[in-house]
Amino acid sequence: MSKLRVGIIGLGGIARAHGDAIATLDNIEVVAVADLFEDKRQQFMERYAVPKGYVSHVELLQDEEVDAVAITLGHQLHHKLTVDSCNAGKHVLVEKPMAISLEQCDDMIVAAAANDVKLMIGYTQHFYGTSLKAKEILDSGELGPIITAVCYMSKNWNYKGRRPQYRSRYHGGGMWLTNGVHVVDRLTWIMASQAVSVSASIGARAHYQAGDDSATAFIRYKSGFAGVAVAVGYADGGPNYECQVICANGSLRFSQHGEKFVKVGKNEKWEDVPFEDPPAEFHNEWKAFAEAIEKDIEVPTHGEWGRHIMEILFAAEQSSILGQEIMLESGGSWSNQTSGTPIITRHGWI
Ligand SMILES: NC(=O)c1ccc[n+]([C@@H]2O[C@H](COP(=O)([O-])OP(=O)(O)OC[C@H]3O[C@@H](n4cnc5c(N)ncnc54)[C@H](O)[C@@H]3O)[C@@H](O)[C@H]2O)c1
Repeated sequence: MSKLRVGIIGLGGIARAHGDAIATLDNIEVVAVADLFEDKRQQFMERYAVPKGYVSHVELLQDEEVDAVAITLGHQLHHKLTVDSCNAGKHVLVEKPMAISLEQCDDMIVAAAANDVKLMIGYTQHFYGTSLKAKEILDSGELGPIITAVCYMSKNWNYKGRRPQYRSRYHGGGMWLTNGVHVVDRLTWIMASQAVSVSASIGARAHYQAGDDSATAFIRYKSGFAGVAVAVGYADGGPNYECQVICANGSLRFSQHGEKFVKVGKNEKWEDVPFEDPPAEFHNEWKAFAEAIEKDIEVPTHGEWGRHIMEILFAAEQSSILGQEIMLESGGSWSNQTSGTPIITRHGWI
């Protein structure tokens, strides 16, 4: 099998997590990078021994040696860079959130299909050792049917260190689109069903900024059950990344940051369950992406999945403004990912 040759566009903080992960995989190599700033290109190229660096993504996309790209820059750029990359015949792994409107998500899906390339959204929640173990336990049926789940991401918003575009909703920032997307993605994956409606309260409660910092959303699923997503970027407090799932015959708690754990609740007590860690989530994400390209199968967190998560997020914003529950429009029809990978990526759509 020949190596997957990757170009990374945007060399901020998260590009390093991608670089570190790719360095742990024998079948993938970074052959080119693009960033507007020379110092960022130089640092990255030296650190990961990358031979080529471009100022603009346009030049990188003309490089025939590049098979696939990672789009790792600001939310407002995901749409254009994905469409351009697909049109250049490159497979795309684009960071979360997928884009900042449903029309943009649709364009991206169409561009990938028209050019017969893979489009994967970097929803890392599916790839943590703790989430994979939790999903394995839930899918095994040993705890019985899911009754409800509550997922949190409450953490320090780090206002001073946060770049302006991530504090501005106009640019696709704010806690809800930046991190709430992880919570909704994790909740929907765990609930293993398609969302049908959402009711939410979202706003800037702890900071003066042009984007929200706090969201609570109540999401109803096609399965008939409902879950709650809480995403808060507080000014001071204690972090919580937990997800708690209550099933008919047992309960489950897991958390992938800070204190990492998976616990099963049975007989009135909680017991720790071992999980695999490392490899880290980005290793698993890249492994799944490369495997889907090699075997020509659907990627696990594909464009339609990504769009559905964004549809929930945008409807939640609408709900918060109108003060009412919003019904979602998408009927939804897509297939589960059915690769032979040891990573459990099945959405279990109902
Ligand atoms: N999956 C995760 O857990 C996770 C975690 C953190 C960030 N992210 C996502 O990753 C993305 C990037 O986040 P970040 O914090 O690394 O961003 P950043 O703002 O730190 O870095 C973006 C980089 O892109 C470069 N850039 C901007 N416009 C460009 C252009 N037109 N061409 C080439 N380079 C350009 C900038 O110079 C900068 O170096 C965001 O979508 C963010 O939400 C995901």
